[in-house]
Amino acid sequence: MDELVPPPRLVAPTTSVRASFLAGEQADQLADGLDAGRLEEAHRDFGAFIAQRRGVRRRWGVPCTTFWYVSGENYLGTLILRHRLTPELTEVGGHVGYHVVTPWRRRGHATRMLAAGLVECRRLGLRRVLLTCAAGNEPSRRVIIANGGVHDGRIRGEDRYWITLDEAGRDR
Ligand SMILES: CC(C)(COP(=O)(O)OP(=O)(O)OC[C@H]1O[C@@H](n2cnc3c(N)ncnc32)[C@H](O)[C@@H]1OP(=O)(O)O)[C@@H](O)C(=O)NCCC(=O)NCCS
Repeated sequence: MDELVPPPRLVAPTTSVRASFLAGEQADQLADGLDAGRLEEAHRDFGAFIAQRRGVRRRWGVPCTTFWYVSGENYLGTLILRHRLTPELTEVGGHVGYHVVTPWRRRGHATRMLAAGLVECRRLGLRRVLLTCAAGNEPSRRVIIANGGVHDGRIRGEDRYWITLDEAGRDR
């Protein structure tokens, strides 16, 4: 377990983690063979890049909020919260998507980041949260199970899990 000071928390995208964001996302890009142009705008104009990601935005046909998981100047990962489901998201996608960048993986951050994301879900008024995860994505499966995910079948290669929230937003 990683004892970062201050403890990581979910925040709106912020310029204060610029260097760490670029380094982390670039490491992911190399590791996962992602499109090199993906971070072009972030390199060119980080302020504009951030501005486009703050607040509630419409994506996947629903309102969405983007959070960054941050400790001081360290950017660890991203969590996206979809405020409601569509028929498509009910099958694949769910309410929450996330990643932890490769330099910070395997230290329990995703497990704790999802727990923090569930508090945000509760704040939005959600009582049950759907997550989907590619069959075979063992790290993500473990993150979801550790947060109380209950398996509800597989659709188009994605395992579906429901997490029931208590009043505080924590899973149980
Ligand atoms: C899935 C992901 C978020 C996990 O992040 P992480 O910070 O490494 O996760 P954690 O450290 O909280 O580990 C969670 C569990 O998975 C295990 N784990 C992590 N990486 C693993 C790996 N490569 N192989 C096997 N197990 C792994 C951990 O040991 C831990 O298990 P435990 O709870 O039994 O101790 C990260 O790998 C990632 O961003 N992947 C790419 C994007 C993605 O798949 N997102 C999820 C989409 S549904």
